[in-house]
Amino acid sequence: METAVNSRTANGVATGGAGNLVLILDYGSQYTHLITRRIRQLSVLSLCISGTSTLDAIAKLKPRVVILSGGPHSVHAAGAPSFPDGFIEYAEEHGVFVLGICYGMQLIVQKLGGVVAVGEKQEYGKMEIAVPEGEWGFYGPEAIGGHQTVWMSHGDEAVKLPEGFTVVARSLQGSVAAIENRSRRFYGLQYHPEVTHSTQGMETLQHFLLDVCGVTADWKMQDVLEEEIKVIKGLVGPDEHVICALSGGVDSTVAATLVHKAIGDRLHCVFVDNGLLRYKERERVMSTFQSDLHLPVTCIDASEQFLSKLKGVKDPEMKRKIIGREFICIFDYFAEELEEKLGKRPTFLVQGTLYPDVIESCPPPGSGMTHSHTIKSHHNVGGLPKEMKLKLIEPLKLLFKDEVRKMGNILNVPESFLKRHPFPGPGLAVRVLGDVTEGNALEILRQVDEIFIQSIKEAGLYDSIWQAFAVFLPVQSVGVQGDQRTHSHVVVLRAITSEDGMTADWYYFDHKFLVDVVSKICNNVRGVNRVCQDITSKPPATVEWE
Ligand code: XMP
Repeated sequence: METAVNSRTANGVATGGAGNLVLILDYGSQYTHLITRRIRQLSVLSLCISGTSTLDAIAKLKPRVVILSGGPHSVHAAGAPSFPDGFIEYAEEHGVFVLGICYGMQLIVQKLGGVVAVGEKQEYGKMEIAVPEGEWGFYGPEAIGGHQTVWMSHGDEAVKLPEGFTVVARSLQGSVAAIENRSRRFYGLQYHPEVTHSTQGMETLQHFLLDVCGVTADWKMQDVLEEEIKVIKGLVGPDEHVICALSGGVDSTVAATLVHKAIGDRLHCVFVDNGLLRYKERERVMSTFQSDLHLPVTCIDASEQFLSKLKGVKDPEMKRKIIGREFICIFDYFAEELEEKLGKRPTFLVQGTLYPDVIESCPPPGSGMTHSHTIKSHHNVGGLPKEMKLKLIEPLKLLFKDEVRKMGNILNVPESFLKRHPFPGPGLAVRVLGDVTEGNALEILRQVDEIFIQSIKEAGLYDSIWQAFAVFLPVQSVGVQGDQRTHSHVVVLRAITSEDGMTADWYYFDHKFLVDVVSKICNNVRGVNRVCQDITSKPPATVEWE
C-alpha cells in the first residue's frame, strides 16, 4: 500500500504563514505531546519530530522556533540523543529561536560550552522559583521580581553557563531554572511550562512565542479544514474513486465527512455489522451517517459470517485474528462490487489515523530501539490486503483527538456523536469472555450494557467518564429471584477515567447510583443474577477484559 499524503508534513495543512512553525525535537519526555498540544491551544501550529532527525529534515520544515524537549537521559550517558551536527550554526544563520526544556536546556548548555553536572539536590515535583529584577525576555515585565510554582523533574543541572548566557530565574534551593542568550536567540527552562502544575507555564510560553519570537497566533481549525479539502481535491483525479470503512467511531466519521466535502459521492463508505455491535448500534450509527451527515454508506450485514467463524473460539488473540481476517474479506468483496458498478477500481482509501500514532519518538538509550512509531498494532483490526494497492488519504494525521472533535464540530457532526466513548474494533468479542456464540451471551451483554450506559447518561455522568461498558463472564452463580433459586450469569460493570487509554483509573460512582443500576439490571435482564464492578486501574489491568 502506498501513502500518498504521507510525504507532506506541514505543507499539507494550514501553517498560518511560512516560517511560523514551532517545531519540537523529541528526546523522549512523557510531556512532549503535551507541549505540542499546549502550543496549538495558543493558535500556533506545532509539529513534533524525533530529536535525532537530520538537519535536512529540520530545515525542510522552516521552523521559526525549535523546542528541544525533555527526556529521561543524562547528557553524560554514552549515546545520549542530541540534535544533528550543524544545528546551532543553522539556527543562528536563519534567525531561528531555540528553547531547551529540561534535558533540552542541558543539551544547549553542554553543546555551547557550559558545564552540566549531576545536581547535588535532585529536584522532582512542585518547586518555587524566583525571577529577579531585570529586563528578561522570558517572563515579560509583569513577572519580574515575582515567585511562581513550577514542575521540575531533573537530576542533572547546569553549573556553568556558556559564555553570553544569563540566569533569568532560580529555584529557591538556588539551582538554575531559566537561562537565556538573547542576542544568539537561545533560551532554556529547567522546568516543564507545559504541565498545569507550572502555574504560569502557559503565560510563559505565550509571552515567549508571541512577544519574544514574534510568532503569529493565526492557526485555526477552519483553515486546516479548508487546506485539507484543497489537498484532497488536488490529489484525487476527477474520475477517481475513494473508499472508507466506517467503524461508528469519531475518527473515521470525521475523516469521511471531510473527504466527502471535498469529492462528494466519489467517496464510498462501508459499515460492517459483524454481529458484535452494541444494542441498536447499527441503526443508530447508520441514521447519523445518512440523516445528519448525508454520507454515502453501504451497510453490510456480515454477522452470520463473523459469528460462524468465531464459534467455539475461546482464545482472545485468536478471536482478534479471525475478526481481522473476516473484515478484510468483506472489504475485498465491497471493493469488487464497486469495481463492477463503477467500471473501475477505487484508487484511494481514507483512514482516520491521528497524530499520536505517527509521531516518531525517541526511545530511551539501551532500549535497543531506534525511532519507534507508537502505533498500537493490536488496535488496528486487520489491515488491508496489499494487492489492493490503495493509496492512503489520512486527513487527520496531524491532529490530536480534541482537535478532531473541533473539526467534527465545524463539519456539523452531531455533538452527541463526537462525545461518544471509544469502542474497540473487535467489539463485544473482547467483552464476552470465552466463546462469544455460546448461549445468548451477546444478547445479555447488549441489554446490560444499554442499561448501564443509559443510567450514566440520565445521571449526567457520561462526559466525565472516559469509557464505560459491561462485560459478560462465562460463569454462573446461585441466586434467589422471586422465591426461586436461580443459577444465572455474572456480569461486570467497568467505568474508567483516562487521558488517552494508555493508563486509566476506575470511576468512583456514588452508592445510590450503583444500587439503582444493579437493581435495574437484575430486574430487567433475564439470565443475570449477580453484578460486580471492576475497580482495577490500568496498569495492572487493561481497559478491556480480553
Ligand atoms: P486496552 O484494553 O488495551 O484498551 O487497555 C485501551 C483502549 O483501546 C481500546 N481497544 C481497542 N480498540 N481495537 C480497537 O480499535 C482493539 O482491538 C482494541 N483493544 C482495546 C479500548 O476499548 C480502550 O479504549
